[in-house]
Amino acid sequence: MSSGAPRTVRDYVLYVEHRLLTAHVSFGHGTSNARDEAAWLVSGALRIAPSALSNRLATLVKGPERARIRALLASRLRTRAPLSYLLREAWFAGRRFYVDKRVIVPRSLIGEFLMPGDPSPLAPPGIRSILDLCTGSGAIAISAAHAYPAAHVDAVDISDEALTVAARNVRLHGLEGRIQLLKSDLFTALSGRRYDLILSNPPYVADQDMDDLPCEYRREPRLALAGGPDGLDLVLPIVYQSREHLTARGRLVLEVGASREALETRFPEAPFLWLASEADECVGYWHKEDLDIFRPS
Ligand SMILES: C[S@@+](CC[C@H](N)C(=O)[O-])C[C@H]1O[C@@H](n2cnc3c(N)ncnc32)[C@H](O)[C@@H]1O
Repeated sequence: MSSGAPRTVRDYVLYVEHRLLTAHVSFGHGTSNARDEAAWLVSGALRIAPSALSNRLATLVKGPERARIRALLASRLRTRAPLSYLLREAWFAGRRFYVDKRVIVPRSLIGEFLMPGDPSPLAPPGIRSILDLCTGSGAIAISAAHAYPAAHVDAVDISDEALTVAARNVRLHGLEGRIQLLKSDLFTALSGRRYDLILSNPPYVADQDMDDLPCEYRREPRLALAGGPDGLDLVLPIVYQSREHLTARGRLVLEVGASREALETRFPEAPFLWLASEADECVGYWHKEDLDIFRPS
C-alpha cells in the first residue's frame, strides 16, 4: 500500500485486506483468505465482477466508490455477516447468483465439477434428467443445467424461503423452461421420479461442530447446516433412498463434509469413491448398483 490514505484500487484492496486480518473475521463463504475477500469487497463496491479487478488496480477510486468501500467494510466488521449477504451476490462455478440470509452462501465442492467449459465427468453419456436435492439458492441446479444443456433439472428444498431465492436465480439465468422447483422433504414429493444424476449438498454439520461454528456461519439458516448428532441425519436417508430414484445408468454425487468418517465407520464394507477436489475429499460418487449395500440397520 502506498504511504498515506489509500487512493488507487490496489491501495484499497491492501487496506481492506489489512483491516479484515486485524479484525480476525472468518472466511469460507466464497473466499478462503483476506486478500481474495478484500478484492471481492472492492469489486462489489465498484460494481464490477471480481475477475475485472486486475485490469483496474492502478485506477484512482472516486468519492462515491470510496464511501461504498468504507461502508461495506464497516458493515462486514460490525455484523460479521458473510460478504455475500452484504453484496447480495455469490460466485459459484464461475457464475453469479443472488443470495440473502434466507439461503446458505453456495460453496459446495460439487461446483468444481460443473465449471463452464470443462466436459463434466460426473454424468452418464446422453444425460436427460438431473435432481438437485437440497437446492438452497439453486446454484447447483443452475450450474448443472448449464453443464448438461440437454437435461431437465428438478430442484428440491424443504424451505419456502430457499425456494423463493432459487426461483429468482432460475429467472436470472433464464432457465425457467428447464428447471422445476419443488417443495419436498427429501424424496417425499418425488414418488415415481427417476434421474440419470442426483446431486446433493445436504446439511451435514454434526451437533458438536454446530456449537463451534464461527459467527459468519451462524448467520446462515440453521436448517441448511445442522445434520444431527453425527451429521448423518439427512445423508443416510439420501444414500438409502437414492437407488429407487436413479435410472439404470444413474449416479449419485453427494457432499458429506466432515460426516465422511461417520459414514465410513457405519458402512465399513461399502464401496466409497471420494472425488478429489481442491479443498477436500468429501464428495462421494456412486453408480446405482453400488448403492445396494446401504440399507438401514
Ligand atoms: C447445505 S444447504 C445446500 C444448499 C445448496 N445446494 C448449496 O450447495 O449451496 C442444504 C439445503 O437443504 C435444505 N434442507 C434441509 N432439510 C431438508 C429436507 N429434509 N429436505 C429437503 N431440503 C432440506 C435446506 O433448506 C438448505 O437449503
